[in-house]
Amino acid sequence: MERTSVGIILNGVTGRMGYRQHLVRSLLAIREQGGVPARDGSRIWPELTLVGRDENRLAEIAGRHGLSAYTTDLDAALADDAHQIYFDAQVTTQREKAIRAAIEAGKHVYTEKPLAEGFLASVELARLAAAKGVRNGVVQDKLFLPGLRKLKRLVDGGFFGRILSVRGEFGYWVFEGDWQAAQRPSWNYRAEDGGGITLDMFPHWHYVLEQIIAPVTAVTAVTATHIPERVDETGTRYRATADDAAYGIFELAGGIVAQVNSSWAVRVHRDELVEFQVDGTHGSAVAGLRDCRIQHRGATPMPVWNPDLPVTEAFRAQWQTVPDNGEHDNAFKVQWEAFLRHVVDGEPFPWDFLAGARGVQLAEAGLRSAREGRRVTIEEIPR
Ligand SMILES: NC(=O)c1ccc[n+]([C@@H]2O[C@H](COP(=O)([O-])OP(=O)(O)OC[C@H]3O[C@@H](n4cnc5c(N)ncnc54)[C@H](O)[C@@H]3O)[C@@H](O)[C@H]2O)c1
Repeated sequence: MERTSVGIILNGVTGRMGYRQHLVRSLLAIREQGGVPARDGSRIWPELTLVGRDENRLAEIAGRHGLSAYTTDLDAALADDAHQIYFDAQVTTQREKAIRAAIEAGKHVYTEKPLAEGFLASVELARLAAAKGVRNGVVQDKLFLPGLRKLKRLVDGGFFGRILSVRGEFGYWVFEGDWQAAQRPSWNYRAEDGGGITLDMFPHWHYVLEQIIAPVTAVTAVTATHIPERVDETGTRYRATADDAAYGIFELAGGIVAQVNSSWAVRVHRDELVEFQVDGTHGSAVAGLRDCRIQHRGATPMPVWNPDLPVTEAFRAQWQTVPDNGEHDNAFKVQWEAFLRHVVDGEPFPWDFLAGARGVQLAEAGLRSAREGRRVTIEEIPR
């Protein structure tokens, strides 16, 4: 079958996300399936150039996957007309500079979240990309996870009646790094290196709430650094300067109230690492990454508060599982396929820089709310 080759610069491919989700699970998987169908009947074929700081590690990754193109020279890669797309999965602090250069070089840009460290910088990137006419997108992977797709299907089908509230629980214990190695990179715990759970997770909660439930109109947040000292990858003790927990109340259009707890200092007593409970007048649902369970108003039990008696009902057993009703591919890969079709065929891609900027706006508003001890309203970004 005829191929439509698309040259992609992949920056940050030695990192957790860049390697596992974007290179292996998305782009190499797309090549293994023979590309992505294009409108003209050809197959969109990603041609990959790996970019990073360490040539040996790039060579090793390239070799492991039968790739030949890699370089430590981003400018040279951006100057090469063979590349149409720049993708960024670097640490957050390095992103803005690289994306500016990519836009300047006329590349279409796809990036991990958050789009930039600050709201103004994010909006500026959206404006620059629009002015240059390059296509742009930000990873919003949670939208493509089976659990949240099922939740969206319920909303679209009118299952809930009037939605009243959302409660989200995200988190797990991230080891301090002394007696057991930390399972997340240490930069996440240093504000000066772009770390912090608010900047990391509020962009996710923003698009989940906005696109599945309703737009966010205000936030009230309390943040904490519960673990003040950690041990890094080299065994050196460091001060955690970033928040490792954020307790947020989000007001949504239509009077819906969403509360989401995010914490790297909590132990899991849940079925999944993130769960959202949505309560509506006609039914409720609990959605995780994969599964989604529902309880309809007609099947709602009538608990009676009586602390003198043991619990008489098996509450969890009173929920029904929502079926898959279709195949659910890797969430990052599904969004990559959409971005490739956006670049090649101009298919709609609503998860653009402006959408990414709204996520950073919410993170910044959450941090301001916590700092100033007040509710912060979310202003609409002028186009
Ligand atoms: N979509 C998601 O669910 C999700 C999950 C985790 C992380 N992320 C985002 O992905 C990005 C990367 O996160 P990660 O967990 O893969 O981090 P990581 O530390 O594993 O990888 C970071 C990458 O950036 C590179 N890098 C470039 N300049 C650097 C510098 N000056 N210092 C240190 N590293 C530098 C590293 O070599 C590495 O390739 C972050 O922006 C993060 O917010 C997204």
